[in-house]
This record gives sequence, structure tokens and C-alpha cells, in this order.
Amino acid sequence: MTPDRSTGRGLALEPLWTRPEATDTAVTGRMRGGALPPALATRYGSRLAIPLHPNRPTIVANFVASLDGVVAMADGSGGGEISGWFEPDRFVMGLLRSLADAIVVGAGTVRHAPAHEWTPRRVNRAHAADYEAWRGALGLAPQPTTVVVTATGDVDPAHPALSAPDVPVVVLTTARGARHLADLGLAAHVQVVDAGGDMRVAPAAVVDVLRAEHAALALCEGGPHLLANLVAADLVDELFLTLAPQVMGRSHETDRLGFVEGFAAAAGAGRWLDLVSVHRGDDHLFLRHRRRGADRRDQSRSGSASSR
Ligand SMILES: NC(=O)c1ccc[n+]([C@@H]2O[C@H](COP(=O)([O-])OP(=O)(O)OC[C@H]3O[C@@H](n4cnc5c(N)ncnc54)[C@H](OP(=O)(O)O)[C@@H]3O)[C@@H](O)[C@H]2O)c1
Repeated sequence: MTPDRSTGRGLALEPLWTRPEATDTAVTGRMRGGALPPALATRYGSRLAIPLHPNRPTIVANFVASLDGVVAMADGSGGGEISGWFEPDRFVMGLLRSLADAIVVGAGTVRHAPAHEWTPRRVNRAHAADYEAWRGALGLAPQPTTVVVTATGDVDPAHPALSAPDVPVVVLTTARGARHLADLGLAAHVQVVDAGGDMRVAPAAVVDVLRAEHAALALCEGGPHLLANLVAADLVDELFLTLAPQVMGRSHETDRLGFVEGFAAAAGAGRWLDLVSVHRGDDHLFLRHRRRGADRRDQSRSGSASSR
């Protein structure tokens, strides 16, 4: 059994700042979430609501990074080592998973976490019942659909993310990956979607799968190569970034990833975001950013507010 190395367990995050125009009274489009139930509000504050894109599934991303931007080490270790096994980081991840219809992950992240399952209940067991109750109150399906993106189809059918019968799974892959997956003996509840091609799945295919799954809100938990595709296609609506108070550094001998790998914006063409809120948990900062202009877009194009 893995030793429990958690730090900061049960800590209430301190809401430091919220963008005034990002409050629910100012954002008039459809929202997912709203008032948090008491068991969750004591840890995060009274509300968490995410505006939904009027024309396509909304995609938010969640990462934890060191102060100098490292999210993964060369040996494949990632979130826990970066956050210092900080339980409030997993708490926030659970909140975001609770709001999502689908969780999108790259096959590299799945391979590096052989015991994980992309559900709210798995990321923070102490709050599993609270997350489940909130999903129920919001009228969401019991579990978000796990969407695994892979070009090769190199996934382990026995991985918990692919084998829990109550968690719907879509493996989104290429024609090459689909041929490989056909022989793997995946569980009956795992749906393989062939997006064609050999080398990569286009970001538009991710959107198509989310639409087909009737997912209004998807959470992308990386990894960095998958996220890069979505950032390049301007499909990331919000970023929830935990900044862990450590400096990791990089050298020629150590290959360490930032949260976007494989896409480099030209100077002057970076993706600018608006800061939406800042929470503090001890020395960790929890930053929430929204794609610049998204508030204005949602206000001008969409109809009346709702709680989902
Ligand atoms: N700190 C954090 O918050 C955080 C979060 C997530 C992950 N991580 C860390 O990140 C590391 C993994 O990084 P990574 O960049 O390799 O992860 P990744 O993006 O999940 O995995 C890359 C793999 O995902 C598949 N993939 C990604 N984009 C694709 C596309 N457009 N089309 C088809 N397949 C696509 C490919 O799988 P195939 O090879 O099967 O074709 C590719 O090799 C791990 O160490 C993990 O712990 C850290």
C-alpha cells in the first residue's frame, strides 16, 4: 500500500481576490456550478461556477507547477512530487472533476499513473461523498466520462481508468491506434473512437467527441503534450493552476516539462488570459485564469443565466 504522504490535509483555502466582473451577477451566460454545499464551501469559499461556451463544449485545464514552471520530471513523476503531496491541491482537483461531464487525458499521463482513475472519488477520498452529492444536486451523471487521447492505442486494458464498469470511457485515437486497440480486449463499456490518420488526433476531434458525449464542460488534466494541442487550437477556456512554492530548475541532463509542450507561440502571439481568482493555502497559490475576452463573448452572445 502506498504510504500517505499528504500535507495540508483539511486546510481551508483563503480566497484572496476575485475579479469583480467575473462574479455571477456580471457573467450572464450559462454557468456550471454555483453555490458550494457547506462541506465543500468550508474549504474553498462559497461559490465555484464556470461559464459555459455558447457554441461548443467548454474546456478547462488543471495543473500544478513549481514556481519555475515544472510540472513533470523525466522519470514520469508529476503532480504529487510537484505539489509536495499537498492535499488542498487534490481537493481543488476533486472540485473541478465534480463539475465536469468529461475528463480528458493524454495516454502518457495515464501510463504514468497506473493506479489512478479520473473520477472525483479517486482524487480525494475524504470528500468522495461530498463531491458525489454536489454532482447529484447539479443533475450531473454519477461519474464524468474519461476520454483518453492516444495516437498509438498503447493503453493497458487493466488500468483502473479503463476497467471501472461504472465510469464511462472513450478512447479517442487514430486509425492506427484503433487497429491496435481492436486486439487488446478492452472492457465492454470502453468505446473506441477512430478519428482517422496515423500520427495524432486533431483538437477538433476532441471537441467532436465531447459533443457526441453531450459534454458541456470538460476538464483537461493534461498532460503537457495533449494540452499543447488544445492551447494551439485556442480551445482552453480556463486554466486552474496551482503554484507550489518550490524551485526545481532544469539542466541539459534533466528533461522537465512545463504544462504546454510541443507548441510554441511566436513572440507577440502568446495566449493572454485574464486572472479570475486567487486562493491561498499555506504557501501554495491557486490561480484561476480565463481566456481573454471570454467574459465579453459570453455576455454578448448568450442568453439568460442558469445554475448548470
Ligand atoms: N503537474 C501536473 O499537474 C501534471 C498533470 C498531468 C500530467 N503530468 C505529468 O506529465 C507527464 C506526462 O507528460 P506528457 O506530455 O507525456 O503527457 P500526455 O500529453 O498525457 O501524453 C502524451 C501522449 O498522449 C497522447 N497524445 C497527446 N496528444 C495527442 C494527440 N493530439 N493525438 C494523439 N495522441 C495524443 C500520445 O499518446 P500515445 O503515445 O499513446 O500515442 C502522447 O504520446 C507525467 O510525468 C505526468 O505525471 C503532470
